[in-house]
Amino acid sequence: MGWNSWNKFRTQISDKTVREIADVMVSSGMKAAGYEYVNIDDGWQWKRDAQGKILPTPNFPDMKSLAGYVHSKGLKLGIYSSPGPRTCGGYEGSYGHEEQDAKTYAEWGIDYLKYDWCSASRIWKEEDMPAAYQKMGEAIRAAGRPIVYSLCQYGRYKVQEWGPTVSGNLWRTTGDIRDAWDSMANIGFSQSDLSAHAGPGQWNDPDMLEIGNGRMSTTEYTTHFSLWAMLAAPLIAGNDIRSMTPEIRDILTNKEVIAIDQDKLGKAARRISKDGETEIWLRPLSGGAYAVGLFNRGTADAHLEIKWEALELPGKPRVRDLWAHKELGVKPGGFGATVPSHGVVLIRVSD
Ligand code: GLA
Repeated sequence: MGWNSWNKFRTQISDKTVREIADVMVSSGMKAAGYEYVNIDDGWQWKRDAQGKILPTPNFPDMKSLAGYVHSKGLKLGIYSSPGPRTCGGYEGSYGHEEQDAKTYAEWGIDYLKYDWCSASRIWKEEDMPAAYQKMGEAIRAAGRPIVYSLCQYGRYKVQEWGPTVSGNLWRTTGDIRDAWDSMANIGFSQSDLSAHAGPGQWNDPDMLEIGNGRMSTTEYTTHFSLWAMLAAPLIAGNDIRSMTPEIRDILTNKEVIAIDQDKLGKAARRISKDGETEIWLRPLSGGAYAVGLFNRGTADAHLEIKWEALELPGKPRVRDLWAHKELGVKPGGFGATVPSHGVVLIRVSD
């Protein structure tokens, strides 16, 4: 869980902004809710010096001091590069400098690397992807600092099958998300078949959150957060948390929904039924409980129902509504609810 600069700031990012974000991660309650990584995306790189060492733009005068600041808040700092010569934004990539860059990141005190394919197809073929990612995976390990390794190649070449073997901790499963219902829904609801590949230490990444960026409704952002939690997805906020409304903060810090995302069994949800524009998703949780998401992708309210026979629930299933923060009591045969257009009812079912 964390925050990343790309969705809101694109390449307009600086030391000052990152420090302010780190401050607000603490003061807003995001850190207490579990958010930990503050990740700088594309646009921090300037050029290489005579020895080939990567230098940040003048917007980042001292990465080591920035990392120290972020660490002093009990948070971690992430950075971004590419296996190609150039990043997607046209900045300096790591091609031919993998070991050197990994050492530089470790020396700065970096804790997370997002490694984005971008121009790498100028050098490598599709089938070279595992090797290209392995090179940096090994370089990071050799650099001797624990660094979370985030693979970003948009889900190509069945990355879920080799991501863990090249030291990947998470891998993007899709192209870039946009702050729009169709983009979010098309990505989120297409992840069911990947569920078996997620597990502790190795996660499918359907891209970062757009919650709070302004182009979806509160109902739609609630669906976005619920769906990502069901998918056991990394929860990487992508909004300007310095100016978020209480409503957006409440979505991002809903501890009951975060507990679903972070459940220690680490099993991702899958779709168990679909009827027109409505879908029911099921996620097994530790202790024999389940999370159930009743989703309505349609334009009118809809009534959805799940029968417990789909689950292996002994005894008397108790239902808790994770957005209303309410116990709904024992529901013997199943559970039904009216779900608003583009909305969700997210429940936890336990014995
Ligand atoms: C790609 C990635 C995005 C972002 C940009 C930066 O498009 O998928 O998440 O990192 O590059 O240029």
